[in-house]
Amino acid sequence: MINFTFTDNFNEEASHICIFVNEQKELSNHAMLLDKKFNGVISKGLKSFHNFFGKAGEVKVLTATSKGDDIHRIIIIGSGKDSERNNVVAQNIGGSIASFIKSSGAKSLFVDCENLESFAADVAFGIKLGCYNFDKYRTTLKDHEKPTLETIELFVNDAHKATESFRRNNAIADAILAARDVISEPGNIIYPESYAEVIRDTLEPLGVEVEIIGEREMKNLGMGALLGVGQGSIRESKLVVMKYMGAENEDDQPLAFVGKGVTFDTGGISIKPAANMGDMKYDMSGSAAVFGIIYALAARDAKVNAVGVVGLVENMPGGNAQRPGDVVKSMSGQTIEILNTDAEGRLVLADALWYTQEKFKPKFMIDLATLTGAVIIALGNEFGGLFSNNEDLSAKLLEAGKDSGEQLWRLPLCAEFDKMINSSIADVANLGTPSSNASSSTAAQFLQRFVNNVPWAHLDIAGVANLNKGKPISPKGAVGFGVRLLNRFVEVNYEQ
Ligand code: BES
Ligand code: MN
Ligand code: ZN
Repeated sequence: MINFTFTDNFNEEASHICIFVNEQKELSNHAMLLDKKFNGVISKGLKSFHNFFGKAGEVKVLTATSKGDDIHRIIIIGSGKDSERNNVVAQNIGGSIASFIKSSGAKSLFVDCENLESFAADVAFGIKLGCYNFDKYRTTLKDHEKPTLETIELFVNDAHKATESFRRNNAIADAILAARDVISEPGNIIYPESYAEVIRDTLEPLGVEVEIIGEREMKNLGMGALLGVGQGSIRESKLVVMKYMGAENEDDQPLAFVGKGVTFDTGGISIKPAANMGDMKYDMSGSAAVFGIIYALAARDAKVNAVGVVGLVENMPGGNAQRPGDVVKSMSGQTIEILNTDAEGRLVLADALWYTQEKFKPKFMIDLATLTGAVIIALGNEFGGLFSNNEDLSAKLLEAGKDSGEQLWRLPLCAEFDKMINSSIADVANLGTPSSNASSSTAAQFLQRFVNNVPWAHLDIAGVANLNKGKPISPKGAVGFGVRLLNRFVEVNYEQ
């Protein structure tokens, strides 16, 4: 855990000092003083770099000495154009600092943010996220391979103001890291029951009411779609309901977030190929985003009512597994023909969505799921796919995506796609015909059959939930995608 503090006391003696240089190559007042103290190393250094332009996130390091043998490293970070600097740019700058500093050997870092308090809070947020690593299972790391950074001090004119704005950022960062942790855990550690316990033990202390519903109760509720997916696993399926009541009026209709939590997706009897199947431990990333947004709202005392509902199952082959061709009955009463047991996420969500709208009569429902491989082909690692029955909800989500740096791209729903999931034996099939045509859309059409008149959006996050190549604030692996996006969406549109 790195400790962040803000100070109005400039520490020229710090061993690692970060300064920002914009595209005009301007130095702050304190950077100029440092330059003088270290005999012009900064100004001379800036002239000598042939490939430093001050673009946001560029990093250069200078070494200076002061009295005796003390070595000081001055880390020059490009801060881009002053006019283009927004929250996302600042967070990414923090991420670039993180990737340099986290394994550099430095124990502490001093960052010069002058009079930019909210910039400082965003930089700290970016550093915190960028320093994330998941190495609890590595027992043979050498000292030089371990993270060293312990404390970060950020210099600003108004330390109180920066501390306040970081308090909020820090709550959101903690939520994202908690989401990343559960996503990163392998399938033998995080399975429905253990995952439900982590959610409960993490959120209850924050004042969230957590209810864990087991198979017997789900059977009584008629959740044959969700239960069919989990029936091949020796692990008991769970539905976890998180209730955060932060609004002044407890009768305020809640916001609802629903997540796919397939703790491991083998494909079931329609088994997946072996290559990269291990990545299917990430198939609960939608549910982790729901866990994360409820965490963030509770941790920062947001004045809203919100519920999170996640369907937790393990999709396994086996003697009791669901067969292709099976027909199951969902909580909605609609019957479903299982054409492919690997199209399981939509089955889990069918019952979770129905339960949520019946039980909570929410203002809207947003579901998140690593639902289709096709959305990765369409949108790569840059955008989540957005499907919705509501223009206003879509517009708000697209906007929050731009503002938070977790971007969405809207994809179509239509009557023709809906027809593709008609079944010859049941009310609906869990696969479109032809199966690979518009398959992210037919998956979304399937979900829509379980949504009544409530505004609804489906976020297919299969391409953005897990990165093989990291980004500044999301190192390789679990992203926790959706937490920043939904937090922004809620704070702009629904907080009192
Ligand atoms: N969990 C997968 C989708 C997925 C694929 C997520 C790759 C992340 C990376 C989902 O359950 C699935 O298997 N979808 C199938 C559906 C098909 C059988 C209609 C797919 O997209 O191939
Ligand atoms: Mn699958
Ligand atoms: Zn899946």
